[in-house]
Amino acid sequence: MNENHRFLDINHLNKSFGGLHAIKDVSFSIGKNEIVGLIGPNGAGKSTLLKLIIGLLKPDSGSIVFKREKIHKFHTWNIVNLGISGTFQNMRPFTALPVIANVKLSCLSSRIRKKGEWLKKIDTRALEVLEFVGISDQAFNKASALSQGELKLLEIARAVATEPELLFLDEPFGGLSPAETDLMAESIMQLHSGGQFNSMHKEGPAMVIIGHKLKQLVRIVERIIVLNFGEIIADNTPEVVMKDKLVIESYLGKGDV
Ligand SMILES: Nc1ncnc2c1ncn2[C@@H]1O[C@H](COP(=O)(O)OP(=O)(O)O)[C@@H](O)[C@H]1O
Ligand SMILES: [Mg+2]
Repeated sequence: MNENHRFLDINHLNKSFGGLHAIKDVSFSIGKNEIVGLIGPNGAGKSTLLKLIIGLLKPDSGSIVFKREKIHKFHTWNIVNLGISGTFQNMRPFTALPVIANVKLSCLSSRIRKKGEWLKKIDTRALEVLEFVGISDQAFNKASALSQGELKLLEIARAVATEPELLFLDEPFGGLSPAETDLMAESIMQLHSGGQFNSMHKEGPAMVIIGHKLKQLVRIVERIIVLNFGEIIADNTPEVVMKDKLVIESYLGKGDV
């Protein structure tokens, strides 16, 4: 058994919404230091998969194992405390609160509260995280004042503030301009390579970047998992995936890459 199989293991996962089989017998593993792209056309099941992993939805069958613990029956709160965090497509910040308060709330997960040091420095740390994603100038404005792109960055700041060991980003490039896309790619790579916001781990978190355009992902990930109609049709290096016949037929051939 390789090292991948001791970090995140998804085994034969299934999820249906009424008659719609949205996740079909999905199995894969993520290793401790990996950065992986999860792609697929709209409606492929990517966000559903993330919601299953983070405990917002429960699978019909199959298991999710993180650091040897079965987590698929856990509440989101417990899953975040174990070290998994993510951003979601439908962002739900507390819009009436200042931007920095949104980040501080995420800082307060219990695995961080254990670290008294961290709590004393919570204001500084929240500002550092906001600085890192590039919106510290908005720290004391209400979250409702943020643009769509800035809201995405706030979501990333909130996820980073929980000090994840495994971080999922759902469509981080969606709706961004080419310049913002480059900045986002840069931030993702920096976050992955350094443990600057983590009081417990030196290295950056393992990351899964969800997207529907291959182009944006190939330059930052080491491996790509392709989901199509709820099924994994490829799981390999970007070079191999881009030449995969099934991927080309079902996905790349459509031009929206
Ligand atoms: N809560 C839900 N109830 C019913 N159908 C859903 C629900 N969430 C997602 N779906 C359906 O499941 C499929 C996968 O959706 P989703 O995971 O959002 O895809 P993706 O993120 O890859 O675009 C779609 O057909 C979508 O309409
Ligand atoms: Mg989605």
